[in-house]
Amino acid sequence: MLELQDRPEALEPIETAAREDLAALQLERMKWSLRHAYENVPFYKKSFDDAGVHPDDLQSLADLARFPFTNKADLRDNYPFGMFAVPEDRIARIHASSGTTGKPTVVGYTQDDIEMWATLVARSIRAAGGKAGDKVHVAYGYGLFTGGLGAHYGAEKLGCTVIPISGGMTERQVRLIEDFKPEIIMVTPSYLLSILDEYRKQGLDPRKSSLKVGIFGAEPWTNAMRAEIEEAFDMKAVDIYGLSEVLGPGVASECVETQDGPHIWEDHFYPEIIDPQTGEVLPDGEEGELVFTTLTKEGMPVIRYRTRDLTRLLPGTARSMRRIAKITGRSDDMMILRGVNVFPSQIEEQLLRCEGLSPNYQIELTRDGRMDQMRVLVEARESFNTDEQRAASAKELATHVKNNVGISVRVDVGQPHSVERSAGKARRIVDLRPTD
Ligand code: DLL
Repeated sequence: MLELQDRPEALEPIETAAREDLAALQLERMKWSLRHAYENVPFYKKSFDDAGVHPDDLQSLADLARFPFTNKADLRDNYPFGMFAVPEDRIARIHASSGTTGKPTVVGYTQDDIEMWATLVARSIRAAGGKAGDKVHVAYGYGLFTGGLGAHYGAEKLGCTVIPISGGMTERQVRLIEDFKPEIIMVTPSYLLSILDEYRKQGLDPRKSSLKVGIFGAEPWTNAMRAEIEEAFDMKAVDIYGLSEVLGPGVASECVETQDGPHIWEDHFYPEIIDPQTGEVLPDGEEGELVFTTLTKEGMPVIRYRTRDLTRLLPGTARSMRRIAKITGRSDDMMILRGVNVFPSQIEEQLLRCEGLSPNYQIELTRDGRMDQMRVLVEARESFNTDEQRAASAKELATHVKNNVGISVRVDVGQPHSVERSAGKARRIVDLRPTD
């Protein structure tokens, strides 16, 4: 493990290409992608025509700003297959989002798209320090969710041995890690915490497990959570980012040698950061909403897709491709309390400063008259579980939140394991406010 740094020739040449070469490739591919979308998807023909632009208007990468955005609602309006750009019999695989409200979002891949996806996940696992012959425990969910199968094909492509366990049955997760001895685990950070609990329940030392690297994503997680996980398992934790509308896992991924934010695999996806209110493109380094244009996807290209994820574009480090800063949160998850904008990640950071509290949490929003209230549900660590200790931890967290986030919250410290768990993405916000 981790000897890749000594073998830079193992990287694909594009990963370390000069920026001009990368930009030239992007422009060529972007021209193709705009035309492909325009000529094959009635939705794009109409949206470009309505905006008075044509694929021929793209002469430079900056010209992309003249093209209209695509939203999740556009995908829903064209449910199920209206966004596909190839005949249905060329679609090799379909995935879909769970769709908590209304129709799910459906995405389709051609065989070449699946190949590209596997290549990018293989690249991501390699960036994490993985190599052929490593065993990869895939605990992302298999099925319509892109996590499990996306990770699976990438790990196989790199030449790893895949353990396709999927999410859930936590006792069995621990037994198979102990018995099969994988070097790598791919899982949501919140579900890894459940696996950690199970290790402790069984009286096993997670630091002695075979795991050397965890590749975590599908939900926001803080660097404070990274430190907690690395310490608990004595492993490296890296961040993998992606979304089904654009690909699935492997749109961007972090390099283990720098652990400084996921590098966007820019040879296949062109990123922009926009002001979410005005839609104006912001310079690199400024925080805003991440927007992607696919450059090579055949089955379902997306042009200027608004992710709702809030972050910044940063210069390349371990690779020449640009990075994203840790996702602050989704604009849909932003809570406004008495005028202060708050994301779950800010509460997470403060929680991880409290010795007596476990890193599991949920945020409940209620309304008292006209005032929104936030209740933070957390749980005591086993060794800090007297009535006095729980009361002291509650006070400590409320004080940290007040001083650092600037809002007053009620903190309820429950018994260990009292906060809801999920085998996939954690549900951080429970909104109990009336909907009118
Ligand atoms: O979650 C794809 C994925 C699977 C990524 C496994 C990484 C690992 P969706 O279900 O479409 O796809 O959800 C996409 O999840 O827009 C972000 O809001 C969030 N997300 C994904 N990765 C990260 C990450 C998969 N590393 C949505 N950090 C995205 C923060 C993430 N948020």
